[in-house]
Amino acid sequence: MKSLWYIPVFVISIALFIEVGGVDRTNFKSCDQSSFCRRYRAMKKGESPYQLLLNTVKEGESDLQISLMNIKNAIHFTLKLTALENHNFRLQIDEAQPIKERYKVDFALNGEPPTRKLEVTERTAESITVANGPNKAVLHASPFKIDLYSGKRLAISLNAQGLFKFEHYRQKTNIPAPAEGEEAVEAPQPVDDVESDIGAWEENFKSHHDQKPHGPSAVGMDFSFPNADYAYGIPEHADTLALKNTGTTDPYRLYNLDVFEYELNNPMALYGSIPFLIAHGTEGTAGVLWLNAAETWVDIEGGAHKEGNVVSSIVNFVSGSGTPQPPLEARFVSESGVVDAFLFLGPNPQDVSKHYAEITGVTPLPPLFSLGYHQCRWNYNDEDDVKGVDAGFDTHDIPYDVIWLDIEYTEGKKYFTWDRIKFPHPGDMMKNLSLKGHHMVVIIDPHIKREGGYFVHEDATSNGYYVKNKDGNDYEGWCWPGSSGYLDFFNPVVRDYWASKFSLDNFPGTTLDTHIWNDMNEPSVFNGPEITMPKDCVHHGGWEHRDVHNLYGLTHVMSTYDGLLKRSQGKLRPFILTRSFFVGSQRFASVWTGDNMAEWDHLKASIPMCLSISLAGMPFCGADIGGFFKNPDSELFYRWYQAGAFLPFMRGHAHIDTKRREPWVYDQETTLLVRSAVRKRYELLPYWYTLFRQHETGGLPIMRPIWYNYPKEKATFTIEDEFMLGNELLIHPVTQSGATDVSVYFPGEKDLWYDLDALELFSGHGTKTVQVPKEKIPVYQRGGTIIPKKMRVRRSSALTKDDPYTLQVALNADGLATGSLYIDDGESFDYQNGQFTSLNYFYDGTTMVSKLGDKNGNFVTKSWLERIIVMGIKKAPSRIVLKSPSLGEQELESTFSPNKHLLVIRKPAVPITEEWKIFFH
Ligand code: GLC
Repeated sequence: MKSLWYIPVFVISIALFIEVGGVDRTNFKSCDQSSFCRRYRAMKKGESPYQLLLNTVKEGESDLQISLMNIKNAIHFTLKLTALENHNFRLQIDEAQPIKERYKVDFALNGEPPTRKLEVTERTAESITVANGPNKAVLHASPFKIDLYSGKRLAISLNAQGLFKFEHYRQKTNIPAPAEGEEAVEAPQPVDDVESDIGAWEENFKSHHDQKPHGPSAVGMDFSFPNADYAYGIPEHADTLALKNTGTTDPYRLYNLDVFEYELNNPMALYGSIPFLIAHGTEGTAGVLWLNAAETWVDIEGGAHKEGNVVSSIVNFVSGSGTPQPPLEARFVSESGVVDAFLFLGPNPQDVSKHYAEITGVTPLPPLFSLGYHQCRWNYNDEDDVKGVDAGFDTHDIPYDVIWLDIEYTEGKKYFTWDRIKFPHPGDMMKNLSLKGHHMVVIIDPHIKREGGYFVHEDATSNGYYVKNKDGNDYEGWCWPGSSGYLDFFNPVVRDYWASKFSLDNFPGTTLDTHIWNDMNEPSVFNGPEITMPKDCVHHGGWEHRDVHNLYGLTHVMSTYDGLLKRSQGKLRPFILTRSFFVGSQRFASVWTGDNMAEWDHLKASIPMCLSISLAGMPFCGADIGGFFKNPDSELFYRWYQAGAFLPFMRGHAHIDTKRREPWVYDQETTLLVRSAVRKRYELLPYWYTLFRQHETGGLPIMRPIWYNYPKEKATFTIEDEFMLGNELLIHPVTQSGATDVSVYFPGEKDLWYDLDALELFSGHGTKTVQVPKEKIPVYQRGGTIIPKKMRVRRSSALTKDDPYTLQVALNADGLATGSLYIDDGESFDYQNGQFTSLNYFYDGTTMVSKLGDKNGNFVTKSWLERIIVMGIKKAPSRIVLKSPSLGEQELESTFSPNKHLLVIRKPAVPITEEWKIFFH
């Protein structure tokens, strides 16, 4: 009873939230309001007080350890430089004798990073040089600086600006008040900025007080990339793809936060944080992973941006004006923890991604259904509503794979329960969906309603599973259910407990076709500082929330993943969507860009946002189609479906206060446009699936900025209104209201681009105007590639299982093309034991060949090859002959369109998993 009076207050505040509109910036700190950020920004370049003590070098097999000293206060640190596999380096710096252990990030890495032999190649009085294969590091003693070379090219310098900073833990010096008659003791001169900063020891923000029991503890470092033009990555921000210079703004902030109605084009923190930055220029690519889970700010300076924005740099570039560009710099500062930096030396974007993925992991091949279309809304109200929506897809002949239930399906926001009035027969509802190959995703948030009798709350209270407040009691915050406890996923026992809740027995009403949405896991706390958990809360192991904040969502999805895995005895692939994320979250979950708005600029922003997340190693990204808040008009609605069909995760979603917007609620024309976009997605599912498998094995992003595939082409460096899928497709979605044409940049001097609708050559290198009538999605296949498709329209991806394939060949200027196809059962882990087929295709004008990519694969399927489309062929062959083990030698029928240079070969009819050859005479 005690806390019931809160409810109206809570309801009012939520209502206010909904009324006001636009981000309330006063809820979130600026750098100035975060004392460590303020101190760091106040540092002057070129005054580094740190020196390496070269006489202390200890050589290990794969590392080097040296003492580092701050000459201003004689505090010693231990620096360790490790040679990693693939010729990269890891730099770790910690206090030599801390009065309290400092937090080192757990969970993020995919195991212990593999190392190589580190060789000392040169020592002088001022420096020591070590080699890792062709790459080397030169450690300069005074002032302390590390230069990292990729081959002969200086790729990254650390502390070149002298902005390395390490605030050691210290006792607070309390100057006793003078006793009567005694003289006041004169305060000692501060030895560093910490001692003169009042905010170093405690800080207030709005009504919240942060006690900081361990005092100041920030770590910061500057990284210079001498020849790079732009920096990318460090999601999540609603900002441009190429990071802006932050000279006149706040730094980019990394602190997982639930930002209501977030604004575009600013460096404010959002739901997820990946402190991984990629610096790129025509001479090479390098990456820095700043492995720290505390609140972090990143300043960007120099590079091709002159005045801090993309536009001015384009002007400079075009006009050829200006002096040589200053080196690109990124400065990271975190509130606590240690320096742990992974330095990836490239030299190509692909090397950086691959090596990053080797250390932090990849997204395992998702179940096929999750690549289909997802229909969500806050909320589908009851079982009839679900039935009606499901039927709507059938009536309008639109494929879909998943229907979602948001928080209202639960009994009073108690997760793992059902509102039995609205959902009396959840098991039957699930089974009915499964009959047509559909799946369901239900939301399970990490906050737990503090209600007597609710089993999760009872277990958490009696076993001590909640995060504690600074006094050691269960921390109590406010979220959807009202008063809530927050499970401490840092405790392995809690993770196991949570995982066990997903078993079919413990979560009755679910089946193996029910998957999970983990939301609000920043964690979101409506009445907490900055809408999250206070930093002085305490987690398992005694770590303050301050140290581990950005890991909370990762630990949440880790244990959900484990739960779903155990639920099927390790047989079926889980699907999880998370809002909050950190380095490593890609191993467990897909992600979306949170609560966007039904506005054209938000549609536009979904591209750079997902590109940044993809570059930071999380490939399975999407944005709420239609926009979460507000009501899209019909044009925005169908244009959003058209764009969303080409993002890795495709889900329509809407706020509870919006009008209903299933694909058929507008006029008939809109329905048909949406249907056509969704169908295009389904045609390409075999291609998407192959891309995800390639990501799993190679670690590269699926959705890529144009520069990623064209690293030498400067004009691509700031393009963010188009992107590529793998190496094959270029997409330029329409993101402008009333657009009748768009201007598409076609990269690659020798490349040819084929229109996916017209199936004919559209353009070579350069910028072209493309007409975009309502139904047009500008998508182009690069010449030289072959992509797999399935052309039959079905109600779900599962129902396409045995359907035949089409191979779509686009010839390059030499008349050649290659491509691949990956197939398995789409749902189990059997592919890891040989139940798969991977095929490579080669076309050279006289033959086309299908060859097994891996002889160990032996997946059995009824699917066969229905059609081969060849685009860009000059003249019709007189005879086309197939040779295959099962069909022998057969002449094939074809049609040729001389104007389009298009050849369609009908019914090769070979089993899709077979090796074959086709001869063109
Ligand atoms: C959060 C999510 C949103 C969801 C809502 C209710 O705002 O971001 O997608 O619908 O919570 O669960």
